Amino acid sequence: MIEVAVIPAAGKGTRLRPATRVVPKALVPVVDRPAIQYGVEEAARAGATEVIVIVDPGVGELVVRHFTEEGPLPGLEHVEVIPVVQEEARGLGDAVLTAREAVDGRPFLCLLADNIPRPGGDVLDRMAAAFDGLSLVCLRTLTDEFLSRYGVIVPGGEPDGPVVPVAGAVEKPGVEAAPSRLGLIGRYLFTPEVFDVLEDLPPGVGGEVQLTDAIDLLGRSGRCAGYVADTDLLDIGNPLGLVEATTVLAAADPRFGERYRAFLAEEWCP
Ligand code: G1P
Repeated sequence: MIEVAVIPAAGKGTRLRPATRVVPKALVPVVDRPAIQYGVEEAARAGATEVIVIVDPGVGELVVRHFTEEGPLPGLEHVEVIPVVQEEARGLGDAVLTAREAVDGRPFLCLLADNIPRPGGDVLDRMAAAFDGLSLVCLRTLTDEFLSRYGVIVPGGEPDGPVVPVAGAVEKPGVEAAPSRLGLIGRYLFTPEVFDVLEDLPPGVGGEVQLTDAIDLLGRSGRCAGYVADTDLLDIGNPLGLVEATTVLAAADPRFGERYRAFLAEEWCP
């Protein structure tokens, strides 16, 4: 069982302006709860009891208050949410590195807060079940347009069921340079050795310390495998994605999904 999860949730949320001028991206509501709650719930479903949330200065207290102020949220009674502040935005790899002390030498789940699984579409729990001592990164076969928006791995051999050896990785290579179509979709299970790799990494693409570069080095030394997912994630980091995610989640909601689907059919798709 992997007991700890890290959710990098710092970042200015510029693609969600003006919603994020004052409200942190992690607290933007999706259906009836803030974005960060989906991440914590997903981590809890995968077995985590400690969730470290990487936040911008000033945001940690708000996040903790959300999870504690009126008592624990249903289903999260046994989960502790721990904020860790990233003082300066130096990239995703640097954000993960700030969690080092709190992770305290344990393997950990890592999930990007901008992405939410479809209802019933969890993969982190299956990755936790498949963990055998090597870091494991979630992959999905990408179409051309995504090869410049996602990290892409170098496959290191034949797949064994959903698990494929990883020999390296490239951040946002684009169609021409992509070593495969298998993209990193924001769900990871790392052994603590990733911190040693991140610590020594020079800035990569965009001048940022890239998590993908750490995966590249782990892969090159035979210390990383991929888990190919059969579903995509909803992207709430931009206005259209937020609306689409809201629609998918609301339409599947047992409390009002049926009424919402009828509303959509009547109003928009007659
Ligand atoms: C980040 C990672 C990238 C990954 C993507 C998944 O990019 O750097 O490797 O494929 O998340 O969403 P970002 O979306 O922050 O640009």
